Amino acid sequence: MPLRIAVLISGGGSTLANLICRIDDGRLRDVTIGLVVSSGSAVPGVGIAREAGLALKIVHTKDSRTGPSFSARITELVDEADVSLVVLAGFLHLWRFPARYAGRVLNIHPALLPAFGGRGMFGRRVHEAVLAAGAGESGCTVHIANLEYDQGPIVARARVALRPDDTVATLAERVQAAERELYPEVIQRVAEHGLEWLRERGAASADA
Ligand code: GRF
Repeated sequence: MPLRIAVLISGGGSTLANLICRIDDGRLRDVTIGLVVSSGSAVPGVGIAREAGLALKIVHTKDSRTGPSFSARITELVDEADVSLVVLAGFLHLWRFPARYAGRVLNIHPALLPAFGGRGMFGRRVHEAVLAAGAGESGCTVHIANLEYDQGPIVARARVALRPDDTVATLAERVQAAERELYPEVIQRVAEHGLEWLRERGAASADA
């Protein structure tokens, strides 16, 4: 049985596009995207999901006045999709998931957590902070998500050395290249070894 995943997006969808590409070319095996949830309707990621023919649902943070809360709606959709793993892919909100999803939600962050993470630390702001701090290296981190931004057990990290002439753009480009390798690698491991592997890996918190 393939590992059935849901992918949660908010914007660009480059992470989603990479996963689709890896599944299509066979580098990501035995993984199927059962659902994409987007927190924005007019974002490129929605077009990417549609073009790939994936099941897609849009959830707005402001919907909550008339029905279930934003998080409860996501939970409903993910429940209906019957997925084993939820992959946060540039998802900019906190999904307050119920306990049954603990250990089954992954996030990728464009820096070496626990540094340079937390609420509001996304996109170019992360790289600006890394450069401003004069850090010698950056990279990306895949971690098991919990109910706080960028917290939760680290599953794998990939390091990227900083160059003296780095700008936000050049650093972002190398970090994104590292992300395109690391996220599918981790998901592939889950497909092969199950959620138990994820739990063990999170408990060990090791570098890739
Ligand atoms: C990546 O930098 C990732 O680390 C972060 O969101 C960015 C990708 O956004 N979580 P997107 O997939 O292009 O929307």
